Amino acid sequence: MTIGGSNSKASINKKLAEYTGKLIDAVELNHIDLNDYKLPIYSIDTENDAGFPEDLIKLNAEVESSDGFVVSLAEHNGAYSAAFKNMFDWLSRMDAKVWRNKPMLLLSTSPGARGGQSVMDLALSRFPRNGGNIIGHTTFPSFNENFVNGEIVNPELREKISGLASELSERL
Ligand SMILES: Cc1cc2nc3c(=O)[nH]c(=O)nc-3n(C[C@H](O)[C@H](O)[C@H](O)COP(=O)(O)O)c2cc1C
Repeated sequence: MTIGGSNSKASINKKLAEYTGKLIDAVELNHIDLNDYKLPIYSIDTENDAGFPEDLIKLNAEVESSDGFVVSLAEHNGAYSAAFKNMFDWLSRMDAKVWRNKPMLLLSTSPGARGGQSVMDLALSRFPRNGGNIIGHTTFPSFNENFVNGEIVNPELREKISGLASELSERL
C-alpha cells in the first residue's frame, strides 16, 4: 500500500510514494489517496454519536489486508498535514496499532531543502508506538529540482530510493 500524506490533488508526496511503490517487484499496489476517504474532523462526540464512518471502516480493512506500506508525509508547519493527522487519529480509534507491525518505508518530501525533516522526526518517534515497523526512511529535499517528469534526476536520491524499495521487497 502506498500513502501520500496529503489531500492535495497534485501531491508531491503521493507522487514519491507511488514512484517508490512501483520499484517493488511483483506486488499488487494499492495507492491510497486521502481524497477518496471522506472523514469528518475527528471528535469524540462525532464518534460517540455516529460511530466509525463507513470510509474509515473501508480504509482500516485495506490497511489490515496490506503486507506493507510506503508512506510519504507532507509537512505543514513542521507537522503532519491536517488531512493525514485526521486519518491517523480515526484509524487509531479502530486499532491503536494502526500499522500492525508490517514493514514500512517512511518518506517525506517538500519543495524546500529540508524535505520535511520535522514531520519525519515526528513520525519516526511516534509511528513505532502505533505498530509502525519502519525498516527504512529518508527525506527527499527540493522535490521540484530532484524529481522531473516522473523521474528522480538526482543520482544519490535515485540510488537511495531504489535501495529502500529493494529492502522492502525483501521483507514482503
Ligand atoms: C499550511 C502549509 C504549511 C506548510 N509548512 C511547511 C513546512 O513546515 N515545511 C515545509 O517544508 N513545507 C511546508 N509547506 C509546503 C509544503 O511542503 C508543500 O505545499 C508540499 O507540496 C506539500 O506536499 P504535498 O504536495 O504532498 O501536499 C507548507 C504548505 C502549507 C500549505
